[in-house]
Amino acid sequence: MTQQLRRKRTRIAATWSVVAAGLAAAAAMTMVMAGTATAATTLGASAAQTGRFFGTAVPANKLSDSAYVTILNREFNQVTPENEMKIDATEPNQNQFSYGNADRIVQHARSQGMSVRGHTLAWHSQQPPWMQSLSGTALRNAMNNHITQVATHFRGQVFAWDVVNEAFADGGSGARRDSNLQRTGNDWIEVAFRTADAADPNALLCYNDYNIDNWTDAKTQAVYRMVQDFKQRGVPIDCVGLQSHFTGGSNYPSNYRTTLSSFAALGVDVHITELDIRNAPADAYRNTVRDCMAVARCKGITVWGVRDSDSWRSGEAPLLFNGSGQKKPAYDAVLAELNNGVPPTTPPTTAPTSRPPTTPPTTPPTTPPTQGPGGCTATVSLNSWQGGFVATVRVTAGSSGTNGWSVSMTLPSGAAVTNAWSANRSGNSGPVTFTNVSYNGRIAAGQTTEFGFQGTGVGTGMTPTCSAS
Ligand code: G3I
Repeated sequence: MTQQLRRKRTRIAATWSVVAAGLAAAAAMTMVMAGTATAATTLGASAAQTGRFFGTAVPANKLSDSAYVTILNREFNQVTPENEMKIDATEPNQNQFSYGNADRIVQHARSQGMSVRGHTLAWHSQQPPWMQSLSGTALRNAMNNHITQVATHFRGQVFAWDVVNEAFADGGSGARRDSNLQRTGNDWIEVAFRTADAADPNALLCYNDYNIDNWTDAKTQAVYRMVQDFKQRGVPIDCVGLQSHFTGGSNYPSNYRTTLSSFAALGVDVHITELDIRNAPADAYRNTVRDCMAVARCKGITVWGVRDSDSWRSGEAPLLFNGSGQKKPAYDAVLAELNNGVPPTTPPTTAPTSRPPTTPPTTPPTTPPTQGPGGCTATVSLNSWQGGFVATVRVTAGSSGTNGWSVSMTLPSGAAVTNAWSANRSGNSGPVTFTNVSYNGRIAAGQTTEFGFQGTGVGTGMTPTCSAS
């Protein structure tokens, strides 16, 4: 069995253990007979009947609020720490990790049989000051180290990670958002996914964003093309998170189901990750849940808070419970839709209701050199942890550019390559050679490209040599 296949199967097993936990929790909850069908009476139990989760964002300080905890434990089978797994919370000083509040939420969730979504490993926002001041290779290495450490700490405790959050710009450009992470190189997102995959091969790895709900929006299309490209090139992505903060500015769109099914048709799960709707209209909640239930790979919904008073937008009363903990009309609409759901027993190939865009995936820009070979140089930077490393190799073309390149190095004794990206590889220990792939062989004079590989053992001391053709 190939490593990729094995990884995929492990992930499926992880997903189903989440489902099984949800079903077990559901069985323990109160159920009533409605006609001949059994209708669950809580959100989590109802979602679990179709193998889905229904969760909420939880801040650690609310765990001491007994009224809050009563609703949390009764209604939800999934939890997302609202702020406690973010970069400023988990690594307030570089290489000093702080997991206390996140651990408390995880322990509470697990004690109640709830699954945990991790949020978030790489984001332009809520970076601690030390990270905000970094750039270039130092930031890239810090990002990888952060992902490795945090994903390793929570390995086996979170079933899915928002690996990268909010990396695309708003508006009609379809471009990446400018940020210090983006300025480290366009490949930062895929590197983040590969690093997370190395640290926790069993977690589902998600890209998460807001304003990607309307199928025709440029931002939605841009994220779609990125996911399509990742799937085609084998970048380990398993899911897309639609935050779905519906406000006056971005209402529930009538083509929402098309968006969900189009992402699903790429071969990824879809999670609705931060749902809240201004003034909580029952219809908009009903439609949102109905659309998810209609798409087999829409595996769950998380609302961004329990009571209106808990919301980051408390003035808009956007949630399912009012400040007194009473169920609102939107709650009844959501529960009814969850109970109408069809179990996702069909293969995950729900066809989009409109044709997905046919724009080919973007390929890295290549500038054909006017001549060559002009020689090349290579440098390697390492992100190491106990027992393994990720190496990023930068290839720089000499005075005449390259039509192709080859980078060789000798791995230290005991080290071995487990996988590589953006290069072909021969050998996995001792002397190894990497050659360009189709899209990155041509480098203009003085320009660079990067490839990477992951290894076991200690990777320090490698000296790459580069030859150009
Ligand atoms: O905990 C401190 C408190 O000690 C201090 O007195 C107070 C003063 O302002 O700030 C408190 O921290 C606040 C924190 O929420 C906890 O309440 C931060 O200022 C505030 O910025 C932070 O807001 C969070 C926001 O992300 C930050 O970007 C929200 O709670 C959280 O709901 C929100 O969540 C994001 C998702 O991660 C990503 N998608 C959008 C979503 C909504 O913005």
